[in-house]
Amino acid sequence: MRTCVLTGSHGGMGRAICAEMRRVGYRVVGIDRPGSASQTSASERGEDAPDRFIGCDLTDMDAVREALGALDDEAAVTTLVNCAGLYEKIGVFDLTLEDLDRVLAVNLRAPFLLSQELARRMVAAGIAGSIVNIASINGKLGSPMIPYGTSKAGLIGLTRSMARTLAPYGIRVNAIAPGTIDTPMAADVNPVQMERQMHSVAMARVGKPSEIATVVRFLAGEEASYMTGSIVDVAGGWMS
Ligand SMILES: NC(=O)c1ccc[n+]([C@@H]2O[C@H](COP(=O)([O-])OP(=O)(O)OC[C@H]3O[C@@H](n4cnc5c(N)ncnc54)[C@H](O)[C@@H]3O)[C@@H](O)[C@H]2O)c1
Repeated sequence: MRTCVLTGSHGGMGRAICAEMRRVGYRVVGIDRPGSASQTSASERGEDAPDRFIGCDLTDMDAVREALGALDDEAAVTTLVNCAGLYEKIGVFDLTLEDLDRVLAVNLRAPFLLSQELARRMVAAGIAGSIVNIASINGKLGSPMIPYGTSKAGLIGLTRSMARTLAPYGIRVNAIAPGTIDTPMAADVNPVQMERQMHSVAMARVGKPSEIATVVRFLAGEEASYMTGSIVDVAGGWMS
């Protein structure tokens, strides 16, 4: 049985990824904020709920280490999907270092810690595993939300660096750079900004979470066996 650890499992994209990975036979262990509704069992909530849920505040690295401890009893984690993300609307002149650190913690430090430790376990178990990071087109183009754009650029750098480092161990690391996807996070973008964004998108529409989930499933699996260090845009032709 292949086991996928998925952060942000209760979010809009996380649910779609969970459903897609379970559909093709993965056991999914979801990680999200403590108290989020994913704590109800899969049978109560349907296919988009993980088989097992671990509550963890990803701003807190001790809590991340505890979550890794809780994963000790998972026989063989083959796949990690770093999907949790924090997007906060704070203007440049109001930002504090604490604001910056909070976003970097969720979007960059936690993915690093989880990738490092789960890759260590894959190597020890002789598993040719795979890591998929959910970055953002904002990691390439920048964002008016400075911590967010910076963290996603960092996640792209982490993806490429980890890919180089882990390739000799047979572990692949790729990222997806989504454009605007119809989830609670996108609902936070104001309508004027959204209309402006759509002028940059060739397909002139937002994406569906399932359109990210299918690419995650592809990158995670054997079909993508010669892909590592790739940053795959899934953004409807968002080119500037
Ligand atoms: N929706 C978009 O338009 C869009 C575009 C590009 C990239 N992304 C990225 O896609 C990923 C999924 O986002 P989404 O659109 O599903 O948004 P979402 O807000 O629905 O989901 C984000 C998830 O991350 C979790 N999370 C945030 N902070 C956390 C913390 N401190 N501890 C534990 N969990 C935490 C939330 O609880 C939530 O379940 C994110 O990394 C986001 O940056 C989204």
